[in-house]
Amino acid sequence: MHETILVTGAMGTVGREVVKQLSILDDIRVRAGVHSTIKGENLKRLPDVEIVEIHNTNQTSLHPAFTHVDRVFLVTPFTKDQVEMAKTLIDEAKDKGVRHIVKLSALGAEAESGTLLGRWHREVEQYIEQSGIAYTFLRPSSFMQNFENYNVAFIKGEGKFYEATGEGKISYIDVRDVAAVAVEVLTNLGHDGKIYELTGPEAISNYEAAAILSEVTGKEISFVDISEEQAKQAMLEHQTPEWMADAMLELHSLCRKGQASKTTNTVEELVGHKPHTFYQFVKDHVQSFI
Ligand SMILES: NC(=O)c1ccc[n+]([C@@H]2O[C@H](COP(=O)([O-])OP(=O)(O)OC[C@H]3O[C@@H](n4cnc5c(N)ncnc54)[C@H](OP(=O)(O)O)[C@@H]3O)[C@@H](O)[C@H]2O)c1
Repeated sequence: MHETILVTGAMGTVGREVVKQLSILDDIRVRAGVHSTIKGENLKRLPDVEIVEIHNTNQTSLHPAFTHVDRVFLVTPFTKDQVEMAKTLIDEAKDKGVRHIVKLSALGAEAESGTLLGRWHREVEQYIEQSGIAYTFLRPSSFMQNFENYNVAFIKGEGKFYEATGEGKISYIDVRDVAAVAVEVLTNLGHDGKIYELTGPEAISNYEAAAILSEVTGKEISFVDISEEQAKQAMLEHQTPEWMADAMLELHSLCRKGQASKTTNTVEELVGHKPHTFYQFVKDHVQSFI
């Protein structure tokens, strides 16, 4: 039976990798929900991927994307209205008879006080739980790809990267492993109602990350521990909205306290191989850092 799987945020870090991994499977129709079809052009090179334009805040734009869809991989961007966006997408999924939602959430989303981002993810998880649609929640740790997305300019320009995380260890995960789990959950039975905490195989501090970056690139790359005030000032100078800077600093504070170091075996249990180490991630992306 050919099932249709819609991936939202399909040009994003995780969505793009999920589309790529789904596109090589037989018996699956992959629909990539992109914010702009011009940016989505790259996905057309993948076999059998249908591209649809989605504007999460505009319900009318969602009708064609959600029609005749069996399962949805739900990703929302890091924006202030992400809860509202997610609820709009879930309402549309319910309206169109989607049978299963796999939501990209975040490690620690269940924590009562937790962080702003965690509370937002939990609010959306609860909305899905109450929707009557079968669901699976993926709660990954920090992405290794953040080094490419956020730190690369400093690494290439200055041979340094700056964060307010101190010696705190972080169980960074490679997005390829998050996507592999998503593909398993979207294409096999037995995952309804499950919550999967996904991490890399080890927790490392940013000092250790810098040592690995140096070893693999052959260039001196160092981590500079900065205060939360310095980090906030830098983010504001780079036009980061204040709510976003504060949300990032909550995450940095957890890291500094060692509260982002939890590791799980869930990736290996679900996909049958160990998740990528940070060393392997840097080796595979070395061109980005030199
Ligand atoms: N980064 C981490 O370490 C980490 C760890 C755990 C969990 N998470 C969670 O992962 C999620 C983010 O995933 P990601 O990193 O793959 O996201 P991402 O790379 O930021 O991609 C988000 C996508 O959403 C699209 N988008 C933005 N506004 C939109 C709108 N109004 N309508 C439709 N599409 C829109 C963007 O397209 P344009 O670029 O074209 O606007 C982009 O392709 C968040 O929920 C975050 O909390 C992240």
